[in-house]
Amino acid sequence: MQMKPGRTLLTQAQICTRVRQLGKSITHHYRGKRPLFLGVMNGALFFLADLLRAVDLDHVEISCVRLASYAGTQSTGSLRGMVELEALGKSAAGRHVLIVDDILDTGRTLSALAARLKKLGAADVKICVLLKKRRAHEIAVKPDWAGFKIADQFVIGYGLDYDGRYRNLKQIRVLGKANGTDPSTSSG
Ligand code: IMP
Ligand code: MG
Repeated sequence: MQMKPGRTLLTQAQICTRVRQLGKSITHHYRGKRPLFLGVMNGALFFLADLLRAVDLDHVEISCVRLASYAGTQSTGSLRGMVELEALGKSAAGRHVLIVDDILDTGRTLSALAARLKKLGAADVKICVLLKKRRAHEIAVKPDWAGFKIADQFVIGYGLDYDGRYRNLKQIRVLGKANGTDPSTSSG
């Protein structure tokens, strides 16, 4: 079945407003500290870039880790890329780490990452996600900051992909069937 971008769930303006609010709250929380923002690539690419510019702190650093658990629209249950994290160990030790990710779904990615960072000696690990799916998370992970709660559906755009495509859409949209009842009204 051919899939394509369907209805817009969140507009560019909605995302922008919310990212600014998150930036203010995160600024307030980390005032006087030197946090390390750890973006989970590739999905968090745009969110991390916008969030960082919405944060007003004297000393903030970024780093990225590349993790993947999805194939198509299905969570595979296994996490690829954790090995790479070991290399990050030294820079995370003793730091206040803020994990920045696009979406919290089953919670497998973020719980494994948070646990590994603590093992590597991070002083504190917090989580900020743009989206949180409203479903029973298989693994209990409570994000410290979450932009929007959404229904359990597959979404694309603003960094989120369907097998590598549609990350460049400016809005967040539902993935629809090419000949289905969820037609696209505009393009990214
Ligand atoms: P989790 O480990 O199941 O929480 O999976 C989280 C990761 O799966 C996210 O960081 C995304 O990369 C990917 N993911 C989960 N849901 C979606 C979706 O609706 N669209 C695109 N990617 C998703
Ligand atoms: Mg991801």
